[in-house]
Amino acid sequence: MMTSSEIRQQFLDFFKSKQHQIVPSAPVVVKNDPTLLFTNAGMNQFKDYFLGNKQPEFKRIADTQKCLRVSGKHNDLEEVGVDTYHHTLFEMLGNWSFGDYFKEEAIAWSWELLTEVYKLDKSRLYVSVFQGDEKEGLPPSSVALREWKKLVADEHIVFGNKKDNFWEMGETGPCGPCSEIHVDMRSNEERALIPGRDLVNKDHPQVIEIWNNVFMQFNRLKDGSLQPLPAQHVDTGMGFERLVRVIQGKQSNYDTDIFTGTIAATENITGKKYDSSPLRDGGKEAVAFRVIADHIRAIAFTIADGQLPSNTGAGYVIRRILRRAVRYYYSYLNYKQPLLHQLLPTLAKQFEHVFPELNAQLDFVSRVVKEEEEAFLRTLEKGLKLIDESISALSAVSAR
Ligand code: SER
Repeated sequence: MMTSSEIRQQFLDFFKSKQHQIVPSAPVVVKNDPTLLFTNAGMNQFKDYFLGNKQPEFKRIADTQKCLRVSGKHNDLEEVGVDTYHHTLFEMLGNWSFGDYFKEEAIAWSWELLTEVYKLDKSRLYVSVFQGDEKEGLPPSSVALREWKKLVADEHIVFGNKKDNFWEMGETGPCGPCSEIHVDMRSNEERALIPGRDLVNKDHPQVIEIWNNVFMQFNRLKDGSLQPLPAQHVDTGMGFERLVRVIQGKQSNYDTDIFTGTIAATENITGKKYDSSPLRDGGKEAVAFRVIADHIRAIAFTIADGQLPSNTGAGYVIRRILRRAVRYYYSYLNYKQPLLHQLLPTLAKQFEHVFPELNAQLDFVSRVVKEEEEAFLRTLEKGLKLIDESISALSAVSAR
């Protein structure tokens, strides 16, 4: 089975062979853009290239970007751990063209990579095309449709509205129509009963979007209007954790080798066993394992990128994520001591060659996480004691 590291490398090698410059991930914490707290898409660091405010050194770039979607327009926090495919921090594999290639090449290459390099089964792939939006004065994406028709059978092409097929970075900023690629991971029996195309963008846990190809053509202004950009660009984002799940043939992102290391470490520490089978009924213990495996990554990489937990702004988001993880291990794994910081060596080693910043600051990040855990555990204990005391007082009153 291909490992997640090999899968990531193949993506980068593929786009390198298409003359893309490979660049490192930008920090997940955003310091110079008042519209964002965290990087929520691979394109954030390239915003000024799209808007024409700056000229890029390379017209073609590819990378894997650490993204966090827990605040603002793109917020998945409450799904995380409950289902098997949303994350706080995730890697977005992306390729970009800044005023260089456009729809034809982007679509052809995404198909080539998925079907010829990764060898995904074409009969399980569906692509979506923007159907247009009258109110916004946007026509249907006829070029994207034409290009997909060269590669994909008609019954594997679906049309999507503005919500699903017009990507925007935030309330303002670069945006444009997009074409998504979805994979149907259901069994053949299920596929025979309901065609995958009927389940695209319907929140089905086995019919999931893996890649979004955005064609940047507009800037959304504060007054809500769309201003055409000086040039046309490509911005693609593929969810790495989902891609690995598809290639490794797993039912859940957490069963891939991206997460199994931290899950095994959590099992060792708590003495509990992660049972991935009842995950679809949301058993709390299984949810706790997934919450921890997910959240430790968000906590570790944001601290390593310079954001300490605090009571305001980005720091508060990190604190909330950390506390959510503590509540889960405290309540559902019955573990009452700091746990998260013990997972950091495993994580740092796993990402040593992709995001070396964690390994380089392991001691510092561990100290910060442990102190936060200790402080919150004290608060939890105090709160529970207060509740116990009020319950006893109440029972004493009612017994009188
Ligand atoms: N910007 C798009 C997204 O985040 C594609 O990279 O989905």
